[in-house]
Amino acid sequence: MENPFKFGSVVSGEDFADRRRELAELSRELAGGQHIFLLSPRRYGKTSLILTLLDRLRSRGRLVAYVDAFRTTTSAQLLEVIAQTVLRAAESRPERLLRLAGDLLGRLRPHVGTDSAGKPTLSLDLGASPRSSLALQEEVLALPERLAQKRKRRLVLAFDEFQEMKRFPGASLEKAMRSHFQHHRHVSYLFAGSRQSVLQDMATRERSPFYKFGRVMSLGPIPQEEFAPFLEARFKRGRLGVSAHVLAAILSAADDVPYNVQRLCHQLWDMLAGKTDRITEKDIGRAIAIIVVQDAPYFSTAWDRLSLHQRQVLQAIARAGGRNVFASDFLTAHRLGSHSSVQTSLRQLLKEQIVLKVNGEYRIADSFFREWIGTRSA
Ligand SMILES: Nc1ncnc2c1ncn2[C@@H]1O[C@H](COP(=O)(O)OP(=O)(O)OP(=O)(O)O)[C@@H](O)[C@H]1O
Ligand SMILES: [Mg+2]
Repeated sequence: MENPFKFGSVVSGEDFADRRRELAELSRELAGGQHIFLLSPRRYGKTSLILTLLDRLRSRGRLVAYVDAFRTTTSAQLLEVIAQTVLRAAESRPERLLRLAGDLLGRLRPHVGTDSAGKPTLSLDLGASPRSSLALQEEVLALPERLAQKRKRRLVLAFDEFQEMKRFPGASLEKAMRSHFQHHRHVSYLFAGSRQSVLQDMATRERSPFYKFGRVMSLGPIPQEEFAPFLEARFKRGRLGVSAHVLAAILSAADDVPYNVQRLCHQLWDMLAGKTDRITEKDIGRAIAIIVVQDAPYFSTAWDRLSLHQRQVLQAIARAGGRNVFASDFLTAHRLGSHSSVQTSLRQLLKEQIVLKVNGEYRIADSFFREWIGTRSA
């Protein structure tokens, strides 16, 4: 029987655990024309949530488009992806797509082809002159509203890892986006990202073009009362019983991070399905030990990139927790030196998302990495 715990890529359909409240709230807000910034740490399930949300909105008659900014490296490329996904929201057949593109983006001489999966692709005349890149920008940024008006339907346009465009050379695209999007009455924008502080600044800094453009929402872990029954039902398929107590221990060993929860359950299933009928707390420790070995190459690479002091700070947090990292006995006990050097190291670790700050406590973001660090420094 196939392992029912999925990790590593987007989950959908029956592999997607409810997130009922988040889906309802996001659908309501977007359907009502509210723009949203959706922030969460890595691997909390943003992309899966967005794609599930868009499916749902599509089935209710909205036009929907999904742009992953992580895959693009220049403004022109991002604009081309926006044009393609927005037009494909309305037309999937090549001839019709071409006609629609001709109507709405005629000046950019659109061309339609097909990709390896047989899906129609759209390319535009990107040109190299400043005039042609300005024309590209102006036409494409006006497109979402023009399409929504033409089809007389609301368009929901989602950008994943939106903050990545900040890395592109030249700063003008962000400003141009804002100045177009703010006039769009029939489009709801969703901007999601996992570099939380960057995206948050984009939405809330007074000098930022997208200042106060939309509501800022944080995506938390999947609530235990939703996730636990989901996991239990899957273990049952392999005739594996799991008590409420052990389920709580699994969730807590993974810090409730959806990816790590699925990863841990996947390993438990591999170890135990067909061999026993009950999962115990001891099994959790064994499963984590195997995962730590599997992921050791990634952890070594991450470790290699850190300064000696950053490593010391991580070791201290792995051993003693991250609640009082600036207290003088903590600094002395772990030989961390000055308050300000710890501050500098933590700032960098937070920026790299190796450490998160949760309710005032510094925490190593990946519980398996924490385990790896802990076993090395014991
Ligand atoms: N609603 C969910 N139900 C079950 N598992 C989930 C859910 N959301 C996320 N996961 C688990 O987390 C993994 C990562 O999900 P996803 O790629 O959507 O997260 P993300 O926040 O977009 O991650 P990244 O930061 O890498 O972009 C999935 O492969 C799955 O194992
Ligand atoms: Mg993602």
